[in-house]
Amino acid sequence: MSGGSTFKVNGIEYEIGDGVRAGSRLVDFLHERRLMGTHVTCYQGGCGACIVTAAIPDPASGTSQSCSVNSCLVPLASCAGWEITTVEGLGNSHDGYHVIQDTLANNAGTQCGYCSPGFVMSMYGLTQNNPSWTDTDVESVLDANICRCTGYRPIIKAFKSITPGDIEDSHLARCSDKAKKCCKGKCCKSSAQEKPKKVQMKMIAPKDNANWHKPLTLEELYSIIASIPASERYSLICGDTAQAVIGTDYSVSTTIYTRSIPELSMVNQTPDNVLFGANVTISQMITHMKSMASSEGFSYLEHLADMWHHVAGTSVRNLGSWAGNIATRIAHSDFPSDLYPNLMVAGATVTLGTTDGSTTTHTLEELLGMDLVGDRKVILLLTLPKMADNVVFRVFKVSPRSHNAHAFINGGFRFEIDAANAHTVVGTPVIVYGCINTTFYHATATESVLAGKSLEDQSVVQAAVESLASEIKPDESPLEPAPAYKVAIAQNMLYKTILGIIGDVASPDVSSGATDLVRPLSSGKQVYDENQEIWPLGQPIPKIEAHIQCSGEAEYAVIAPEVEGELFGMFVTSTQANAKIVSIDPSEALKMPGVVAFVGIEDITGENNINNQTWPGVPEPLFPSERVSYYGQPLGLLVTEGRGPAYGALGAVKVTYDDIQPPVLTIDEALQKPFPEGQPEPFVQGDVEAGFAASTTIVTGAMGRNGQYHFAMEPQVCIVTPTDEGFDVLAGTQWASECQRAIGQVLGIPDNKITVTVKRLGGAFGSKIDRCNILSTAASLAAQKTRKRVRVALDFDVNTTLIGWREPYLCTYKAGVNAEGILQAIEATLISDAGYIAVDISSGGAAFVMPSCYACPNWNVKPQFVLTNTANNTWCRSPGTNEGMIFMENILDHIATEIGMDPLEFRRKNLMPDGSSRNLNQVVHRLRHAMAGNPNAKIPKAITITNNLISDMIDQIMVSADVDARKADIETFNQNNKWKKRGLAVMTQMWPYAPPSVYPFSCMVSINCRDGTVLISHGGVESGQGINTKVAQSAAYELGIPLDMIAIKGSTTHTNANSQCTGGSLGSDITSYCVSTACRHLKERLEAFRQTLEKPDIDWPELVSQAYFSGIDISERYVNTAGEVTGYGVFGVAVTEVELDVLTGQFLVLRTDILEDAGRSLSPLVDIGQVEGGFIMGQGMFTMEEPIYDPVSGQRLTNSTWTYKPPLAQDIPIDFRVTLLQDSPNPLGFQLSKVTGEPPLVLAFSVVMALRQAVASARADGGTTGWFQMDTPLTVEKLQRLCLVDPARLVITT
Ligand SMILES: Cc1cc2nc3c(=O)[nH]c(=O)nc-3n(C[C@H](O)[C@H](O)[C@H](O)COP(=O)(O)OP(=O)(O)OC[C@H]3O[C@@H](n4cnc5c(N)ncnc54)[C@H](O)[C@@H]3O)c2cc1C
Ligand code: FES
Ligand code: FES
Repeated sequence: MSGGSTFKVNGIEYEIGDGVRAGSRLVDFLHERRLMGTHVTCYQGGCGACIVTAAIPDPASGTSQSCSVNSCLVPLASCAGWEITTVEGLGNSHDGYHVIQDTLANNAGTQCGYCSPGFVMSMYGLTQNNPSWTDTDVESVLDANICRCTGYRPIIKAFKSITPGDIEDSHLARCSDKAKKCCKGKCCKSSAQEKPKKVQMKMIAPKDNANWHKPLTLEELYSIIASIPASERYSLICGDTAQAVIGTDYSVSTTIYTRSIPELSMVNQTPDNVLFGANVTISQMITHMKSMASSEGFSYLEHLADMWHHVAGTSVRNLGSWAGNIATRIAHSDFPSDLYPNLMVAGATVTLGTTDGSTTTHTLEELLGMDLVGDRKVILLLTLPKMADNVVFRVFKVSPRSHNAHAFINGGFRFEIDAANAHTVVGTPVIVYGCINTTFYHATATESVLAGKSLEDQSVVQAAVESLASEIKPDESPLEPAPAYKVAIAQNMLYKTILGIIGDVASPDVSSGATDLVRPLSSGKQVYDENQEIWPLGQPIPKIEAHIQCSGEAEYAVIAPEVEGELFGMFVTSTQANAKIVSIDPSEALKMPGVVAFVGIEDITGENNINNQTWPGVPEPLFPSERVSYYGQPLGLLVTEGRGPAYGALGAVKVTYDDIQPPVLTIDEALQKPFPEGQPEPFVQGDVEAGFAASTTIVTGAMGRNGQYHFAMEPQVCIVTPTDEGFDVLAGTQWASECQRAIGQVLGIPDNKITVTVKRLGGAFGSKIDRCNILSTAASLAAQKTRKRVRVALDFDVNTTLIGWREPYLCTYKAGVNAEGILQAIEATLISDAGYIAVDISSGGAAFVMPSCYACPNWNVKPQFVLTNTANNTWCRSPGTNEGMIFMENILDHIATEIGMDPLEFRRKNLMPDGSSRNLNQVVHRLRHAMAGNPNAKIPKAITITNNLISDMIDQIMVSADVDARKADIETFNQNNKWKKRGLAVMTQMWPYAPPSVYPFSCMVSINCRDGTVLISHGGVESGQGINTKVAQSAAYELGIPLDMIAIKGSTTHTNANSQCTGGSLGSDITSYCVSTACRHLKERLEAFRQTLEKPDIDWPELVSQAYFSGIDISERYVNTAGEVTGYGVFGVAVTEVELDVLTGQFLVLRTDILEDAGRSLSPLVDIGQVEGGFIMGQGMFTMEEPIYDPVSGQRLTNSTWTYKPPLAQDIPIDFRVTLLQDSPNPLGFQLSKVTGEPPLVLAFSVVMALRQAVASARADGGTTGWFQMDTPLTVEKLQRLCLVDPARLVITT
């Protein structure tokens, strides 16, 4: 066995023992070894949180090459001979940080930090794999990692700044023997050094009973296969990545790991062919193809290699083999392989081996329909042929995201061309499409149409396009684009290829259709005031936790080490969306090994209601009593010894349903029923009828905006430990006190028996305000029942299904404007989809923020909600505010189109004047007064915006973003190009920051008497937004001591009782205020004491110490009281330019400039991070993220990283410039600042506005002008279909 049965992790050798199950994953082993810096979000290879590097022996060359791999995909048993490095192996706070960790931290490349170790390891993998990497390599290697917080820009910047010399120096700094040559990482060991030991895995994972073999030769492989009874199935694995895509095959009894067989790793090139052994990974192929492409006849390999950069992410490509990919396609006709059709077009052949040692060679067409396992065939070799000079080879892929996403459709073309003879096709071309249906590949009819024809002949082109329409019959599926779109893209891919072949023969205005969008290297610029006069407040520093986040030392609840005897809780969830529950029977499951208990509705000892202050008056059940209301609803909690037994036992819980009704899944469907009771109050001002009467133009329309998964990288989690006093709860919540109340309420025990602690969250975005209560109450019931510590942590598919998302919305409107282009009246309904229960609804707030920064005398905006058979949708970054403003922007664009005015000019005409007032949504305030026993309290109707900055900000950005000149350029570009269109939009915003008058956060500031250091515990929750950094800077400034004397503890319901939820941009602002006030009180007390001293000129530690021994209290608590924190308007302007490929719907965000009003920023780097991260989250919501349901069962199908795609590093604006408005103190804000957490997200609507212009230009070319409805997300499919490209317009000359 190559490399024996041992492997190394961070230089420490482990032996794989008998206890290792074939299915155990490397990440589970790392966690058992307490190497918790390797995080898990998806367990599907789709997020990058778990990336480590591995030097994997190549049996052909005998060498090892280090690269990044997803430890959630790697079977532990495959690691023999590997040298693995985890983030702990690079550096830490004790031994010093590695340059990659240090650079990422110093460049403000972290927010919640949960993704950071994965990013560090991706970059480390690049440096180990390619010692002369380029900036392009850096951007490209990040295709495997998701970061929901930062917007990627600082991560890219940080990593691009690292040089090979830095890496060398970093090792030298930590080498054990510095006098000698650098070990390049080999001597660097984790601080938690362990002695070699036999691995005993407790984890029971899929394929648990499989036999594991590791043959070293082909002969051994054949003899193992020959020994398997014909009736049994086996699996050959190389990277074992495919199971993350197609699921685990439980019928497999034997697993054979083939990676150690030298023949299967061979790579060779002859004058006529290139040859790749079956185990050559996709990454290795890309590298080889790039260098082989310079040989005569193989230039097409360069194009193939470029395309394969779009197959999966780097770390999956580093593991996954070409053979695994095509074998998966052979076995699963619905697997949307990119490699298969690409290799078909290339005319590749595949050599198979059989157990008797004989071989056969096949085309890819011949392999379709084979049963490789049944026929005991092994893929041995891929042969790619040489191509003649006159052969044009072209492959395409259109996918939901630019990188690391499966294809919606892929296409490939091989044409032999006689260029001198009017570009006539020699012989029959090869035209192949993937992802059409389970059998279709070759467009044979169209191939015949084109055989021997001139591509300069328009009638030939048209005949081919029409032929495609009749022979391509795509399957329909809820997760796939509509068949009509696939047909259109198939036609357009062919058209692009033809345009590329005929080159200059095509008219200049269509010729740009030939090319794909090419993303250049990205860049960024950040401008902010330095604020030196108030440092450390206002100082541009990275987050105070940045370094421990980058080294994986930062602690999160989900990676809290397991303790002996701890139990695991997994929800039993409904498989119907709208049905009566007849019975839930866990008896069979309870008999299974490792299953300890089932917690159901009958175990609730208090109220079946997880809401207390969240949404008073609407009880939300933990478990349903009569009917299930959505697919995935929790019905009970199965409590097991570890995670493994739960997977096996879940299916044994029998749930019987009756009266199964079709699910209501959309707002449109819900509108067929009467509206539920309790609709929010309308926003009414002036008289809309009078306004419409005074209008010369009236528009009516609608816009939908679908939901968004929060995609916090740390899953929902709660760990409950029974104590002699009650329960200690470690919760992933944004609202510890509500979590405490919910537990007390559901268990029926006093709140003082429950202590909830939150250290930090790996992202939240509103998903953990009250949704964590589902976990915390269920886990507490389980802990109460078993008297054991119980952990509930949701798997990705459960997290996406059981927990609600951002509410989908529909806005219908009517708006009037007079002849001068001045708004007269706006009437609208804003309907939100609350999910199955009427809590966490944002439409009431949305209505009141619609005016944004605009003036209109007459309003009637009716907020409504509907109920659907979906999970309870919940707050998501800028809830309500986002929708109010984007619908307003949509209305403004609609009117501007109708009256033929430039959209920005129209906006400028209608900006609110200085001193305008904004009506307040009084409902929240009234509710809070009612809870305070004062229902008749006088509540202000409106707030006045005293310092209106919007006009000046528009003026400023017009210059800094060079808007007028760029608009002119875009006009020329669009006139000259039919198939590439650009658009530029300016979006303006006034985001009302309106804290409820009573919104307490309690904080505790304690000075230590020995050294004067300060420990702070506040009621806010650090979730990546930088609350701790702002609090620490505020405290250091107020106390007049260095920042490094301040430490922040997590929040608990003991020291920070009754604090409000950290959300709505309120947390950082109010906690900083409270801590600052407490510090001021302390400072005043200490200064008064100083005046009593004989020698007052003593330093801080001495002062503190003397005060303490003189009986002065050197701790202080503070809670903000009613009305202490006031609201104001936050202004923002964004300019975004996009380029759209009209033929595919793909687009690039070419440039975004944001001017954000942060007042005098408390922490500029933190605020810039909020702007950039918010914008990219918004861009995801508006252009690619969308819930999709099975219309029959109601199951949310977008429940994996395969089906749900947030933006990646290569989706952000190519040129991303952010300025925090300079010299702009806010007299109403804490320390003259303004909040930044939520407002910038909304500015991402500028991407939609810019795309509208690009689409409008494309439509105009086809003769369609005027307004059109654009619902978001604007997926590639929607965008392309909106462009209205009639196939008859696919002309080569105009
Ligand atoms: C997150 C993610 C994203 C992805 N994105 C894409 C994408 O965009 N486009 C795309 O095309 N693919 C994509 N894939 C699929 C990926 O390319 C494949 O999973 C990978 O290539 C499989 O190679 P492997 O070595 O891991 O195969 P394994 O998982 O080891 O094996 C897969 C199958 O191949 C069979 N097999 C393996 N070797 C042989 C052999 N020598 N002879 C016969 N049978 C064999 C096995 O029995 C098994 O059934 C993605 C995968 C993941 C996890
Ligand atoms: S946890 Fe491994 S890629 Fe997501
Ligand atoms: S910092 Fe990247 S996900 Fe939070």
